[in-house]
Amino acid sequence: MFTYPSSPPTRNYDSLVGIYDLLATCWSGVAIEMARMWCAERVSAGERVMVVGPGTGADAACMTHRGAHLLLIDHSRKMLEVSVGRCRSEGKTVPQQIHGDFRIQTALEPQDSVVAPFFLNVFSATEALQVMKQLHDSIHPGGRILISDFSVPPRNLFSRLLMEIWHGIPMAFFVLWTGNAFHGVHDIHSMASKTGLEVTDRKRFRILKWGPCWIEALELRKINTT
Ligand SMILES: C[S@@+](CC[C@H](N)C(=O)[O-])C[C@H]1O[C@@H](n2cnc3c(N)ncnc32)[C@H](O)[C@@H]1O
Repeated sequence: MFTYPSSPPTRNYDSLVGIYDLLATCWSGVAIEMARMWCAERVSAGERVMVVGPGTGADAACMTHRGAHLLLIDHSRKMLEVSVGRCRSEGKTVPQQIHGDFRIQTALEPQDSVVAPFFLNVFSATEALQVMKQLHDSIHPGGRILISDFSVPPRNLFSRLLMEIWHGIPMAFFVLWTGNAFHGVHDIHSMASKTGLEVTDRKRFRILKWGPCWIEALELRKINTT
């Protein structure tokens, strides 16, 4: 029987705090950064926003600068410290923070928006679907989820193979160093529809500015069944 959470929490993200953004930029050009910022720039003043796995938090700082009220949740103490510090110095509001595993947070208030930047990719496909359900349950009925992550893998076998290799090389490092799950590129659109969410906006980003669109940002809302 599948129980949730099924995998142990990640480790060693603390040790990556000084180089994480550089690694992301070297690997994607600015695609990862642009996708995160696309999500951050959709947030408005006064919104209650939960950011799950903010990492070093440039996007979280942008959201506080726009006047949103943030709750940051990260399992890495150092990542959390850096993102809270950035929100304090660059933003207009002081974020609330939870240092811990998002998957065991069961008593959170429903949010206007939940932002999950490159968070689903930490988990196996089965567990990422459970995380998506939890994101779904974390927003109120009119709320939305903003996700930046890897795009849906292409249908063409050759392009898919290239994307899996490009995704797989850093993943192998994260599997060994932080305990992320080993998995293929997630189909986040399919996960969204399985959990009662629809894509209401989307932007794709080219790797190294001229390459394939392997990174994307999504806005998801609850499917209205009435
Ligand atoms: C792949 S990094 C993404 C960082 C950043 N958001 C970005 O856009 O690149 C994953 C982040 O999620 C955090 N994390 C991993 N598992 C977590 C969990 N179960 N609960 C909360 N945070 C977690 C890590 O500490 C790290 O900061």
